Amino acid sequence: MGKNITRKIIEQHLVSGEMVPGREVGLRIDQTLTQDATGTMAWLQYEAIGIGRVRTDLSVSYVDHNTLQMGFRNPDDHRFLRTVAAKSGAVFSPAGTGICHQLHLENFAKPGATLIGSDSHTPTAGGIGAMAMGAGGLSVALAMAGEPYFIPMPKVVKVELTGELTGWTQGKDVILELLRRLTVKGGVGKVFEYAGPGVASLSVPDRATITNMGAELGATTSIFPSDETTRDFLTKMGRADDWTELVADPDAEYDEIITIDLSALEPLVAQPHMPDQVCRVKDLAGKKIDQVAIGSCTNSSYSDLKNTAQILAGHVTPPETDLMISPGSKQVLKMLSREGLIEPLLDAGARLLECSCGPCIGMGGSPISAGVSVRTFNRNFEGRSGTQDGQIFLVSAQTAARLALDGEFTDPAGWGPAPERVTLPEDVPSIRELFVFPPEDGSAVEVLRGPNIVALEDFEPLPETVEAKVLLKVGDNITTDHILPAGAQITALRSNIPAISQYIFSRVDEGFVARMKEHGKGVILGGENYGQGSSREHAALGPRHLGVKAVVVKSLARIHRANLINFGILPLLLVDPADYDKLEQGTDLTIPASEITPGGTVNMVAGNGVTVPVTNDLTEKELQIIQAGGLLNAVREGKS
Ligand code: F3S
Repeated sequence: MGKNITRKIIEQHLVSGEMVPGREVGLRIDQTLTQDATGTMAWLQYEAIGIGRVRTDLSVSYVDHNTLQMGFRNPDDHRFLRTVAAKSGAVFSPAGTGICHQLHLENFAKPGATLIGSDSHTPTAGGIGAMAMGAGGLSVALAMAGEPYFIPMPKVVKVELTGELTGWTQGKDVILELLRRLTVKGGVGKVFEYAGPGVASLSVPDRATITNMGAELGATTSIFPSDETTRDFLTKMGRADDWTELVADPDAEYDEIITIDLSALEPLVAQPHMPDQVCRVKDLAGKKIDQVAIGSCTNSSYSDLKNTAQILAGHVTPPETDLMISPGSKQVLKMLSREGLIEPLLDAGARLLECSCGPCIGMGGSPISAGVSVRTFNRNFEGRSGTQDGQIFLVSAQTAARLALDGEFTDPAGWGPAPERVTLPEDVPSIRELFVFPPEDGSAVEVLRGPNIVALEDFEPLPETVEAKVLLKVGDNITTDHILPAGAQITALRSNIPAISQYIFSRVDEGFVARMKEHGKGVILGGENYGQGSSREHAALGPRHLGVKAVVVKSLARIHRANLINFGILPLLLVDPADYDKLEQGTDLTIPASEITPGGTVNMVAGNGVTVPVTNDLTEKELQIIQAGGLLNAVREGKS
């Protein structure tokens, strides 16, 4: 029987396991990427493993999240990242060069290669046919050390695209449509593989927008074929040699099939505060807009910003509508500059921000109180913008630019003709010289650290019996932003676990950290999809530092689940979701940890006399990791 693309790549990289959906497979990883917010910890973990030079084909350390460098912490981190990359044989991308995913797509990703990154939007590289997955920093550190990356063998969903995009619709509307249909839980354990006649009509930036935001489905990753469009993109990037054709066999099998007629799409928008709260732009007509932000790893490509410039040229945005634009890379910025496209942006009233994540991670550009902010980003979780009651709406770049002119949501039927679809010029300028390539021999390089870079603590193994109170009860869809908020003040502490832990759940329950300190240990009770959102492993490391022993939930998000395991926190699932109501904050729990077996059920005994059965979806190896107190302990003990 024919193979789909996902199966072909996994087969070529299979180190262990059986390719049966749900069973664990170990994959050889060709490339890794890290960014500064999660990367400092990943590199501290890499150092703790102690193997010297990276063993991947390519590892790149990007600085794009905390580029503001307010105070000594961020610049110290960046110097640490530059020097540890040089010593270890990784490429370093300095602050301001661009956003990791945009840069990786343009400069390094390859069709058919495996890539893991300590950032949940690593699947962006799936736009050119890489199997690219977001992972915890520790998994990335281990991949850099030459260890396989383990995932449950995913189900493969064929997304059959028919027709072609028309008018004002863009790739963003394709993924918003999928989010509307499937919700933020719809992709767990699945790879979304795009196919069908509509694929050829999508540019690489459109494809990368779709695979980028496939992360919001909770998917393992998303992937497009590598075809003539991919070849053209790579050739223009000066990387023709990196192209290989990669398509599914004509008789390939899939676990599910979804069809989207591109011709039938219209401009869509995700409303506050979830990317799956999707409606048509016209449904919101009349709603005033206070701010528009164009950029982020989702929509900051040359074509996005050229379209933006074409729409804004000759117009001025209303004074009450603040417009911010962040190019995804210096390559994009250079092309806009060369073609005289910066001036129309400035003349329209736009503020041009650095080539970095910026407002997407709450680094400046927060909206006014209760303000409506229309963004081309991928996430609109409550508080992520830096304004707790900010109302964030997610749209395509074209839609954002058009709405910026109107200062309010309007019906696309009245927008007039859409700008022409943009293609890359033949002579794309290279920015390769801006990357810092490592010396052949890094032994003489000194790794420089500042006072904010604190070595990792050693964690205790799991006790035979966990006796602890429920110290926090939370509802469904708790995100990693709820667990550890973003923002300059907090993320500056990412290489200092004792300091950053003081902010765990700080915006959900101010008393949580104090209760953890009082009791020294505790359990978190959660609802469905606990831990969705970013890959930030500090959302597991922080609770672990505070003494969280177990997270008992109805269901868990994929990357956060892996992070909990990596740091030795038991991820337990309620057998009967209704038991959630029987447990309260303050309830004493006894969990017979030594009786836990992979997939088995044990009874937790609650202090109120109630017995609550819990199960798990752990493999034997994952359970051993938790018992050892986390993955670093397990690697050192040779149990991984
Ligand atoms: Fe950066 Fe936002 Fe993407 S923080 S990596 S631009 S999701």
